[in-house]
Amino acid sequence: MQDHDKEPPSFDDFDEINDPRSRDSDIAGIIERVLSRRAFLAGGLAVATMPFAKAQGAGKLDFKPVAANTRDTITLPAGFKWQLVVSWGDPMWLKGEEFDPQTRGTGASQELAFGDNNDGMSLFSKGSHIIMAVNNEYVNRGIFHGNRQSGKPENADDVRKSKAGHGVSIVEVTQKNDNWSIIKDSPFNRRITADTPMEITGPAAGHDWLKTVADPQGTKSLGTWNNCANGQTPWGTYLTCEENFNGYFSSTDQFYEPSKAMQRYGIGNRDWGYGWAKYDQRFDISKHPNECNRAGYVVEIDPFNTSSTPKKRTALGRFKHENAEVVVAANGHVVVYLGDDERGEFLYRFVSDGKFIKDGDNFDLLESGKLYAAKFHDDLKGEWLELSPQTTGMASQAEICIHTRQAASKVGATTMDRPEWVAAHPDRPEVYCSLTNNKNRGRKPNRGGDATPVGGPNPRRKNKYGQIVRWRPDSGDHTATGFTWDLFAIAGNPVVHSDARKGSPNITPDNMFNSPDGLSFDSTGQLWIRTDGNYSNKGDFAGMGNNQMLVADPGSGEIRCFLVGPRQAELTGLTWSPDRKTMFLGIQHPGAKGDGAFPGKGNDVPRSSIVAITRDDGGVME
Ligand code: FEO
Ligand code: CA
Ligand code: CA
Ligand code: CA
Repeated sequence: MQDHDKEPPSFDDFDEINDPRSRDSDIAGIIERVLSRRAFLAGGLAVATMPFAKAQGAGKLDFKPVAANTRDTITLPAGFKWQLVVSWGDPMWLKGEEFDPQTRGTGASQELAFGDNNDGMSLFSKGSHIIMAVNNEYVNRGIFHGNRQSGKPENADDVRKSKAGHGVSIVEVTQKNDNWSIIKDSPFNRRITADTPMEITGPAAGHDWLKTVADPQGTKSLGTWNNCANGQTPWGTYLTCEENFNGYFSSTDQFYEPSKAMQRYGIGNRDWGYGWAKYDQRFDISKHPNECNRAGYVVEIDPFNTSSTPKKRTALGRFKHENAEVVVAANGHVVVYLGDDERGEFLYRFVSDGKFIKDGDNFDLLESGKLYAAKFHDDLKGEWLELSPQTTGMASQAEICIHTRQAASKVGATTMDRPEWVAAHPDRPEVYCSLTNNKNRGRKPNRGGDATPVGGPNPRRKNKYGQIVRWRPDSGDHTATGFTWDLFAIAGNPVVHSDARKGSPNITPDNMFNSPDGLSFDSTGQLWIRTDGNYSNKGDFAGMGNNQMLVADPGSGEIRCFLVGPRQAELTGLTWSPDRKTMFLGIQHPGAKGDGAFPGKGNDVPRSSIVAITRDDGGVME
């Protein structure tokens, strides 16, 4: 506020002051338009004529909701407890070194250790073995390189360590005497980093735009990085999603002009401080302009075979992938819902050409299919717009799978408020997506120049708090063209605001939050929401405290806070043990801005970690 007072108001600020009753500040109007549960039900299945909450038979975990707070620990309701499973830098093999808070590891030690900033994760079972696959999204430079005065990578080994802090950690876990831990030296353990060989598959494989000096065929690349959220297929593979892949490219030639296509993806002459190009030329866009076309995909990994080559599935498009929610449609086609987490970008759906066959060979189902982008209409209907050479005017499906954002712009898909995770209900055809926030809504076009008007599922200008949209495919068929949608929750602060910023009626002073991000259903149909938002606990965010995990009843709309995270952390991946008695949760970037030492105390180095949450009475965690 003070900063604003020193400057003349911008056009938008001026407009807002003089137009306080604009459509997007009128919560009653927004609710009328986009929060109509009745309209959503009317467009749904026959079963929905029954009261929604009863129709679904969702479980309801019994607990007394937790109050917001700013403590540097995990807060759970009475009757629940947590324990640490693994943290950044923990060795996964006996020959590895224990984490050293002074040096914070070396390239060699990090290659044998759990990566930084764990995000999406899935569990896989084989006999009595439980294998955890976890994304390591990025490194918190100031902490990761905290042994350097500059807080930045300063030499080749620092960059080697940084590349090894990224990727995926696959590690066997076990529970002994009520205590979960990783199994060092398990034959299933594997580190996949920014240097692991990958195969490029699907429509874009071998396209000219993917060819480089090191790979003249355009079919083999090295590594995966900025792996945000995840997916799990019914045929037992792990999907890791490349999100902000752009931040690692830079140019040694300061006069190099990044192409328009590069700019659409935020690729420019400066990286985000990772410094990789200095020691690995492929990240220098002036020397290797096609390298960046080889990132931004969903990568499929066989977690049971440590020598398998991960496959970049270009059929699922190239953008800043959040997660990959896999559903087998009633007709057997595999549907993957995908968000592109950037202001004003799109929501996507992939439908496989082939069909899922139980116990059959399904391994290449993500190799070919149709890709769509979502269009939301104001009448609570929507449709999936196919991205093909015919609909986009682009030369080939390969081009569409590389320049996917451009393709979705060409068909006029709806610009969204940063689609994060998508989650499909386990028992009925209904899908939810977190739209985390978007300060540019109603003010600025996206990077492709598409307007971002206020309306539809993005009803508030300068959206600070985010919302959760949901849709139900026509006839309950995930492969149908049309769907019906509404907003499940509009986040806000009803203590500070009385206009649209107070949020929807299911947001109260006791459960308010901002920036919904992680979204997962448990097997009973409860929706678990993790936040990645403003944790200042001040101003517009007063009373919200640290980031949280909440649980929602899709039927009644009731939302309850189950967990408050440690300071400056975000809650990320979520999964359950096979017996459902343990919930595993990712604690990402604790103390990222200097205030916090989780899982330690005082001056300890804060470390991203996975925790196991159980009930004191040993019951199921859903
Ligand atoms: Fe890595 Fe969009 O969160
Ligand atoms: Ca996220
Ligand atoms: Ca986020
Ligand atoms: Ca994050």
